[in-house]
Amino acid sequence: MKLRSNEFFGRRRMPLRSSIKYEINSEVGQTKIVGFDFMKDIVALILAAGKGTRMRSDVPKVLHTILGWPIIDYVMNSVCKSGIEGVIVVAGYGKDEVAEAVKPAKVIVQKRLLGSGDAVLRAKNVLKKCSGDVLVICGDTPLIRAATLKGMIAKHRTTNASATVLTARLDDPASYGRIVRDNAGTIAKITEKIEAGIAEDDIKEVNVGTYVFRIKDLFDALSEVKPNAKKGEIFLTDTIEILRKTGKRVEGVEIKDVDEMIGINSRVDLAKATETVKKHILYKLMESGVTIEDPASTVIFPGVKIGRDSVVHSNTVIESDVEAGSNCDIGPFARLRPGVRLGDNVEVGNFVELVRTRVGDNTKIKHHTYLGDTVVGKNVNVGAGTITANFDGKKKNQTRIGSGAFIGIGSRLIAPVTIGERAVVGAGSVVPKNHNVPAGATVIGVPARILKGR
Ligand code: UD1
Ligand code: CA
Repeated sequence: MKLRSNEFFGRRRMPLRSSIKYEINSEVGQTKIVGFDFMKDIVALILAAGKGTRMRSDVPKVLHTILGWPIIDYVMNSVCKSGIEGVIVVAGYGKDEVAEAVKPAKVIVQKRLLGSGDAVLRAKNVLKKCSGDVLVICGDTPLIRAATLKGMIAKHRTTNASATVLTARLDDPASYGRIVRDNAGTIAKITEKIEAGIAEDDIKEVNVGTYVFRIKDLFDALSEVKPNAKKGEIFLTDTIEILRKTGKRVEGVEIKDVDEMIGINSRVDLAKATETVKKHILYKLMESGVTIEDPASTVIFPGVKIGRDSVVHSNTVIESDVEAGSNCDIGPFARLRPGVRLGDNVEVGNFVELVRTRVGDNTKIKHHTYLGDTVVGKNVNVGAGTITANFDGKKKNQTRIGSGAFIGIGSRLIAPVTIGERAVVGAGSVVPKNHNVPAGATVIGVPARILKGR
């Protein structure tokens, strides 16, 4: 791996809103949200106006994070990977923060939470400009896969349906809407739990809350939906029965992996979803040739790349925007934060924290070290307890350690500073800022001075 520091330090700290996104059980890749483009024949409408009362939080529910990424990012990622380019988000509680988070998607505000049908109606003026279909999905179901959405869209198109509903079979249908099918097996309506009679209550097939609608038919049907007598809300689900009664075609697609449909309503749900995402990431890495010594205690964020035959030991945390080469040895108890690049055969041992730091091939950083904003060359030994002082109280400064250098234990390097190639920093030294150490020199002391005759 080449050390090209300029390119690296010019980058944004965390690619949160940018390129690398996560798709459950699939390659992490590049996705692009193009904002709202009504010329396309399908757009997505993400319903995210709810407060999420059961989260007991001041943060809007969809902005709570799973391994560093807001819940709604996972939804947007799947939507984008399904091929949809135009995204509209219905926001309410915390609308400004949500709008900021989903940029450049178009945001429509629903001031009062009058139901899922009402949320869709808020987008009517925008959607009216579109001719084709709309995928309606909840902002709090982060694990639905792009492949599932693609499958729905494909079936919707090939059957020429007015509505296609994503369904699942659950042993305990809980409070989900029940899918009621007619004698021919076609979906006749969706009955909400509060309306379900004894027979319907037992139905195990439920409404996941993800749909593809033909836009014109959707709004024709919605115009006939009356507020629910018990809750006073406009139920989006009521459109299904209306569509059927007016002779329109309604299709269902059954989700195979019920893990996908988890909706985040509480912190417990959040932990369950995190566990699922975590497992997918670790399994993916293992399948690609990385040893994960103890998956239970290892946390690796979406988008992390690790080369084959690298080993990640227990109790290690690797955050987003980290890439490691092959044959690396990471942990136990290591923390790699955003902007870290490790070459091949790098060792990062216990209680080592790295952030915005590049490390060249064959370098060893084995114990109790903090390196921030640092470029380390090849074949460097960074002694136990080495600390870079990268923050001067105002800004972050860079440390450079040339190839072949030896940093003695307990050294403190005050950035900005450069340690030349093959230089030696004696144990316990403090190298002051701008006191660059020439190539091949040995320095020692507090402050560090060049040792003559070496
Ligand atoms: C809804 C479905 C139910 C389905 C379930 C799946 C209806 C009437 N019922 O029930 O059949 O099984 O989802 O999770 O749709 N929202 C708004 N504005 C509102 C109300 C809701 O934006 O006024 C958003 C919420 O933020 C959420 C989504 O719509 O993302 C679903 O709303 P929620 O209240 O959770 O519906 P459920 O009762 O779960
Ligand atoms: Ca819900």
